[in-house]
Amino acid sequence: MTDAVSNPAALNPDVTAGVARFLTPVVLELTALVVNGKQAHWHVRGANFIGVHELLDTIVDHAREWADLAAERIVALGLPVDARLATVASKTTAPELTAGFRPANETIEELLSQIDVALTSVNTAVKELGNLDPTSQDVAIQIAAGLDKDRWFLFSHLSE
Ligand SMILES: [Fe+2]
Repeated sequence: MTDAVSNPAALNPDVTAGVARFLTPVVLELTALVVNGKQAHWHVRGANFIGVHELLDTIVDHAREWADLAAERIVALGLPVDARLATVASKTTAPELTAGFRPANETIEELLSQIDVALTSVNTAVKELGNLDPTSQDVAIQIAAGLDKDRWFLFSHLSE
């Protein structure tokens, strides 16, 4: 019979609790980025519409993949994740997006702020998980590298 003790992935409960503590905000903020990124994707307008519209979908796809990666690391260690809609809405610290159609430059600036909120939680996870669980830290590092790149792609659409 398999139990937690015979599972080679089983970690000290203090370690698993720490992983959940630092990866859960990553899941929540990336899930918020999925929702707000789609809102921006639908409402951006301007001369570079196609480029920004399509890039926003790429960012949303990545955010969804990375939320899944972080959530499944927590679950793989045996703890649940609360990423229900109401929980995401109440816990995210992302600023409220402006409703309606928006010029591309304003959409980009608002989305950069959304990404920065997610990056803050990711970078905290990278810093704090190093001493707790290197495998979970590696998950956070992968997300940090990808999100930094997406931020650069989006930022580079802004002219000086
Ligand atoms: Fe679309």
